[in-house]
Amino acid sequence: MSSLLFTPLQLGPMAAPNRIAVAPMCQYSAIDGVPQPWHRQHLGALSVSGAGVVVAEATGVVPEARITHGCTGLWNDGQERAWADIVRDMKAVGPGLVGIQLAHAGRKASSQRPWEGGAAIPAGAAERPWQTVSATVTPHAQGWHTPEQLDAGGIKTLCDAFAASARRAARAGFDLVELHAAHGYLLHQFFSPLSNTRGDAYGGSLEKRMRAPLEIAAALRGAWPRDRVLGVRISGSDWAEGGAGPDDAVVFARELKALGYDFVCVSSGALAQSKVQVGPGYQVSFAAQVKREAGIATRAVGMIVTPRQAEDILRAGDADQIALARAFIDDPRWPWRAAEALGAPAPVPPQCLRGRPSTWPGAALLKA
Ligand SMILES: Cc1cc2nc3c(=O)[nH]c(=O)nc-3n(C[C@H](O)[C@H](O)[C@H](O)COP(=O)(O)O)c2cc1C
Repeated sequence: MSSLLFTPLQLGPMAAPNRIAVAPMCQYSAIDGVPQPWHRQHLGALSVSGAGVVVAEATGVVPEARITHGCTGLWNDGQERAWADIVRDMKAVGPGLVGIQLAHAGRKASSQRPWEGGAAIPAGAAERPWQTVSATVTPHAQGWHTPEQLDAGGIKTLCDAFAASARRAARAGFDLVELHAAHGYLLHQFFSPLSNTRGDAYGGSLEKRMRAPLEIAAALRGAWPRDRVLGVRISGSDWAEGGAGPDDAVVFARELKALGYDFVCVSSGALAQSKVQVGPGYQVSFAAQVKREAGIATRAVGMIVTPRQAEDILRAGDADQIALARAFIDDPRWPWRAAEALGAPAPVPPQCLRGRPSTWPGAALLKA
């Protein structure tokens, strides 16, 4: 039986050569938002994997949008040039569509890199904390920065910033942009009733809580070329009493589809209140519901680890595409082994063929 995972996937105007996506992964290794040699080698290796889509990390549309001082940005010419070089290299070594995630961390910005503790940068610290913004003035959790509440003017300014970054991403050569609306960051802060308690036009009902995210999504849509792929990472569940759930994600996905978005990636959690029950495929049911009820190309993600698991999710019709993050850290050649396991031709560049089991007896010893 042929493998669905290795079947091409039409994403709006472009086709990915297979249904494997490398999920965005912050590297916390940029300088002033400019991606560095680390990013070039990291993303290059992921492109060599043959994955159908490789998405570069959450990238701030303004300096304050970054999670940490080490996060990438796309608001100036130097960053655009550095990304353009990386995109060119990724396309030179791999067959996949090259994407970038555009993001704003909101009240979770101005924090330390994970290996420095991952907490809010302390006030007055040499690490230079900055003023954060959010849907309300409520901090992410105890000990976090008190954000400024964004007013209509502030939201409009951010719409312009997302649009400007999208134009830069297009000039840098990216095939795909993914808007980050999950994981407790700014757009999710507006979306969730747990973080958005305001009573004006931008808070209250689901319709009002979606307003700022949809205004930003519309601005981004307007700035991104129609002949390239545009998607959103949404949140399938807050995993908390009184929080948003998969029914809300369906409504949001329908609105995004109506705006002209090509796909959604369904993640979840990461508000302070979220009590995520992590396990194999723990977010797949959210993706399945969104795919079924919103009728938009849907990517599943989260503890999808083995090729068989990925294949079975596609065969069940629960998703159109499978994203992996940590499995790619462990094994940047994951698709090669997945193809072997599923009996599909492995997407191996010719330069690497002499290290494959078909031509190298050592491969059998490695497995022994
Ligand atoms: C090192 C690391 C960095 C991450 N950075 C991002 C990011 O920039 N944007 C995002 O939406 N998710 C990010 N995530 C979450 C992953 O994209 C993914 O959704 C999550 O790890 C679950 O998938 P997995 O079980 O295959 O790792 C990150 C995860 C890891 C491990």
